[in-house]
Amino acid sequence: MFKSQGLYNRAKEIIPGGTQLLSKRPEIFLPDQWPSYFKKAKGVAIWDLDDRKYLDMGIMAIGASPLGYANPYVSKAVKKAINKGCISSLNSYEEIQLAEKLIELHPHTEMVRFSRTGGEADAIAVRIARAASGKAKVAVCGYHGWHDWYLATNIGDSNNLKDLLLPGLSPVGVPTELKGTTLPFHYGNIDELQSIVADCGKELGVIVVEVQRYKEANVPFLKKVREIANKLNAVLIFDEVSSSFRQTIGAIYKMYDLEPDIVVLGKALGNGHPISAILGKRNVMEAAQDSFISSSYWTERVGFVAALETIDQFEINNVVEYLRELGNYLDAGFQKIFHELKLSIKNIGMKPVPVLDIQEENSLLIKTIFTQEMLKKRFLVSNIIYLSYAHNKKIIDLYLDAAYNVFLKIKSGLEKGNLNEQLRGAICHSGFSRLT
Ligand SMILES: Cc1ncc(COP(=O)(O)O)c(C=O)c1O
Repeated sequence: MFKSQGLYNRAKEIIPGGTQLLSKRPEIFLPDQWPSYFKKAKGVAIWDLDDRKYLDMGIMAIGASPLGYANPYVSKAVKKAINKGCISSLNSYEEIQLAEKLIELHPHTEMVRFSRTGGEADAIAVRIARAASGKAKVAVCGYHGWHDWYLATNIGDSNNLKDLLLPGLSPVGVPTELKGTTLPFHYGNIDELQSIVADCGKELGVIVVEVQRYKEANVPFLKKVREIANKLNAVLIFDEVSSSFRQTIGAIYKMYDLEPDIVVLGKALGNGHPISAILGKRNVMEAAQDSFISSSYWTERVGFVAALETIDQFEINNVVEYLRELGNYLDAGFQKIFHELKLSIKNIGMKPVPVLDIQEENSLLIKTIFTQEMLKKRFLVSNIIYLSYAHNKKIIDLYLDAAYNVFLKIKSGLEKGNLNEQLRGAICHSGFSRLT
C-alpha cells in the first residue's frame, strides 16, 4: 500500500468526503490503489509521498495548469508578489492591470469583478444577473459548481442535472423553497429552453450556458439562446471556467460571432493560483453595486499577478497553437490504437482536451484496468486529458506506447470474456455519491 493511501484512510475519518474536490477523490480513479497525495509537481511530473515519479496524462489539476505545474515564469512572478506582501489594508493595484487586460482580450466587455474559484464566480455572476434583470428564475445548461442556485435545479428531481455533466448531485442542505428557481435544459435543445420560457414567462431573468464542454460549440444553438435572452430582456451568462484558455487566449465564444452579457473565467487563468473573473457589459455589471458582493481574500495579490503572467506566457509562446498541435498528434495516436485493436473508444473532446468515450460494455471496468495498468507504468491517467504547454510529443509517444500495450491486454481480456480477472481491486466510482 502507498504511504498516501494510509493517509487517505485517515482523511476519510476527519475530512467528510475525503477531499475538497470530487474530481480528486482517489475512488474516481483507482479505489485503494491511487497515490492520493503529491509531494512535488513540476512540468507534467508529480512525485507522491513515496517519492515515486509519475507523468500526468490525465486531469492535470482538472484543467488548472495549462502551462504545466510550477511554471518558472508564473512562480517567479508569484514569489516576487509574496516578497512584496500579498495582502494589506490597501488594495492590490494589479487588479486594475488584470481588469484592463481581460477587457482588452474580450472587447465587448467593460467591467470586471474578481473572485477565487469557478463556482463562486458563477454564483456572483448569477447574483449580478438577477440584480440586473430584477427577476429570480434561471435557466441552466452545463455544470456550474456547488452553490445553492445551481443545486436547486435538483430539488424535487435529483436527475435534473444528471445529463448536464455530473449525475447524483444531491441538493440536501439547499432550502426546498428554492425548488423551481433554476430550470435545466440540454445543450443543443432549444425546444427545452423555449418550454421553460413558456412556463416561466417574464419571470425568467437569467440564462447560464457552458459554451463548449467536449464537442465543438453549437453556434446556431447558442445564437438562438442569445435571441431568446434578448426577447426576454434576460441576462445571458457564458460559463467559460473550463473552456477558456484552451483554444483561444481567454473565452472560446470569441472564436464565433457571439456575445454574452457576462462571461466567467477561472481554472486556467492563474495556472495553479486561485483567481476567477466575472466580466460583462457595463449596464449589467453595474448591478453589482446594488447587491452586497464582497470578500477579504478576493483582494489578495497572488491571483492577479499569476493571471497576468499566465496571459503573458500564452501570448509570448503561442500556447494555443502549441496545444492544438499536440492535441492533433495525440488524437492521431488514439485513432491508430483503437482502429488497430478494433475497440469502440472515441475521442470526443476538443483537441487540446481529449476525452475518451469508452463505448464498449463494461466501460467502468475497462477504465479501471486502464488506470491500474498505466499506474504501474508510472502514468497518472483518466478518460480526460488536459494537455499543457509542459507536455510534448516525446511524452505523448511514451504514453501512447504504454497505452497501446495496456489496451492490447484489455482487448484480449474482452475477447476471452475474462477481463475481470485483470482487476486487482475495486472498480472506480463515477459521478457523485456519498463515501461510506
Ligand atoms: C464550467 C464550469 N463552471 C464552474 C466550475 C466550478 O469551478 P471550481 O471547481 O473552481 O469551483 C467548473 C469546474 O469544473 C466548470 O467546469
